[in-house]
Amino acid sequence: MEDEIRALKTKKNAIVLVHNYQPMEIQALGDVVGDSLQLAVEARRAEADLIVICGVQFMAETAKILNPERKVVIPVPDAGCPLADFLTPEMIQEAKKRYPDAAVVVYVNSTAEAKALADITCTSANAVQIVASLPNDTILFGPDANLAAYVQRELPDKTIIPLPPGGHCYVHTGFTLADVEAARKKGSMIVCHPECPPEIQEQADLIMSTGGMIQGAIGGDEPWSIFTEREVVSRLRVLYPGRVFYEKPEAVCADMKKISLVDLKRALEREEHEIVLSREVMNRAHRAIERMIAVGT
Ligand code: 13P
Ligand code: SF4
Repeated sequence: MEDEIRALKTKKNAIVLVHNYQPMEIQALGDVVGDSLQLAVEARRAEADLIVICGVQFMAETAKILNPERKVVIPVPDAGCPLADFLTPEMIQEAKKRYPDAAVVVYVNSTAEAKALADITCTSANAVQIVASLPNDTILFGPDANLAAYVQRELPDKTIIPLPPGGHCYVHTGFTLADVEAARKKGSMIVCHPECPPEIQEQADLIMSTGGMIQGAIGGDEPWSIFTEREVVSRLRVLYPGRVFYEKPEAVCADMKKISLVDLKRALEREEHEIVLSREVMNRAHRAIERMIAVGT
């Protein structure tokens, strides 16, 4: 199966971009494996005829928006992100009326329609840098309220208004103070994703995007407890076999596990499922994502 997939990649002149949460057998076939920001940057400069995104819907939409002339497909059409669904265009429009002087910052874990209403997008890797770059004192920030709280903590002079107030990722809100205690008992450092709740962030030694964790683990030799989706730990163990990493076995993003090798092969063979977005939404979302890339990659 792996050989057939490799042969299809060559035959179709395809590039396969894989998120850090994907199953390891899919990661092994990726031309690039990375966090949301890395995948967006790679998709933007891709010259392949076919871009296959092994991740969730918003990642494939972002790739299409950044490289609209290419065919972009996702192997499973219903791999979504429940966090993205928290923020509707109507919420943004209403909030803009209430706070006319505020800037709208939309996390890439969002729909294309929400991005189209943003002044600028951000990822977990650059959220602080993006908000700091804006002249506005008040920032409407969605859909992740925990990432909003992280940015607020880092930039106390700004007023960050989460949109909606309770937007969250169920994988990351699954981390509790009991996990913190267990990690400390093991003598490990706590490395958490900024989608974790504020009480976990306060206890963490490092707060990073998934790509930040992969790169940040290069130096150092202390054990790390990883507070994000557990596949990141599988990847860290492959990359750094000499180091000790602990995962939370229950921290699984169900949508990220929907893509199998069979799905990837079919996606390459049939060039499906193609991402199709309205030109108007793409153009407006493009502006917001390009602004982000210009400020912080
Ligand atoms: P990263 O950009 O850190 O990979 O995060 C994406 C994501 O979906 C986190 O749950
Ligand atoms: Fe969305 Fe959470 Fe899955 Fe990330 S881990 S893709 S935020 S549901």
